[in-house]
Amino acid sequence: MKARLWRGGVVATLAGDSGWGLIDDGALLVEGGLLRWVGPSADAPPADDIVELRGALVTPGLVDCHTHLVYGGNRAHEFEQRLLGASYADIAKAGGGIRSTVAATRAASEAELLSAATKRARALIAEGVTTLEVKSGYGLDCATETRMLRVARQLAGLGVDVRTTYLAAHALPPEFSNADAYIDAVCRWLTGLSDAGLVDAVDAFCEHIAFSPAQVGRVFDAARRLGLPVKLHAEQLSDQGGAQLAAGYRALSCDHLEYLSPAGIRAMAEAGTVAVLLPGAFYALRETRLPPVAALREAGVPIAIATDHNPGSSPTLSPLLMLNMACVLFGLTPEEAWRGMTVNGARALGLADRGRLVAGQRADFCVWDGGHPRELAACFGHNPLLERVFEGHQGEA
Ligand code: NIG
Ligand code: FE
Repeated sequence: MKARLWRGGVVATLAGDSGWGLIDDGALLVEGGLLRWVGPSADAPPADDIVELRGALVTPGLVDCHTHLVYGGNRAHEFEQRLLGASYADIAKAGGGIRSTVAATRAASEAELLSAATKRARALIAEGVTTLEVKSGYGLDCATETRMLRVARQLAGLGVDVRTTYLAAHALPPEFSNADAYIDAVCRWLTGLSDAGLVDAVDAFCEHIAFSPAQVGRVFDAARRLGLPVKLHAEQLSDQGGAQLAAGYRALSCDHLEYLSPAGIRAMAEAGTVAVLLPGAFYALRETRLPPVAALREAGVPIAIATDHNPGSSPTLSPLLMLNMACVLFGLTPEEAWRGMTVNGARALGLADRGRLVAGQRADFCVWDGGHPRELAACFGHNPLLERVFEGHQGEA
């Protein structure tokens, strides 16, 4: 196995629980897809091959831990409706929203879904994403949920690690009038999809326009029986107590959380559940209620951020913009935002082998035209990626 040394860069390791872990003239030794050594260039071990970084900035690869990347159609008309005064919930109650994307997704072939999702994944990769979570949830029948998850798995061919999440409990499909009967079906389908190796985690939408905590609990019981970890779209539009429910199942993450209560924060802190904040959805829906960042910090709840790419509430394909928005809209520090899209994003997916630049971790990293990672959080609408390294391989930038 050949060892390649990258040397002469500003390396932001994010080692430890706080601080940037900056090495001013730093180097990384990569072998077999892993980081074998990270430290000052002057102390670097011998290598078969050397890449000069010429003072460029090196960070962990970005982890986008919450996306709905696979779907048909688009919802730009709802953007217009919201600007004319309709709310996201009004549109959903009138049969639009998620259900409109369900109709377009059911009508799309696997090849069409793959082609559209490939373009979106390429846009994320072009900004440095090396790990990508993709949810189902626009099929809401077994065949289309399966198709979505198969397409998500195929995105791995682009040179990105893909984690799939089963989100059939996203909305009530038109052919069901009884939500409990639909939840029975959601639980039934999960067994086959899990046996087929298509599911890494299970998610649900706990909200007054979606499913109740009791219904979500039944989905989580089914996940638990199969040994699958859970996550939750929780307290996005109202406080349903979803965070406490999810923490009771030791959920990997609760996501959105604008209406998270102090009791929810305590439960998440005790369970080690990550708070995934989604500034794209907050921005696009013109929300005014902020997630309780100071209280999350104080309770020691790890904070992640993600694009939440979807055609309705967050049609963004820019993780770099989310770094900036997490700071400007939610008041995260640039370091918190970076940890949110690296090490804590990985944790929200149950992954401990990435997100920091330390020996033993996967060799997933980005080389940027810049001198300090805070520059990337301060800037927006600009992509200074020079090189993206995935499992030790240089790819497209
Ligand atoms: O994360 N909140 C629920 N699910 C998505 C939006 C889905 C949609 O509007 O299509 C979200 O915001
Ligand atoms: Fe989402």
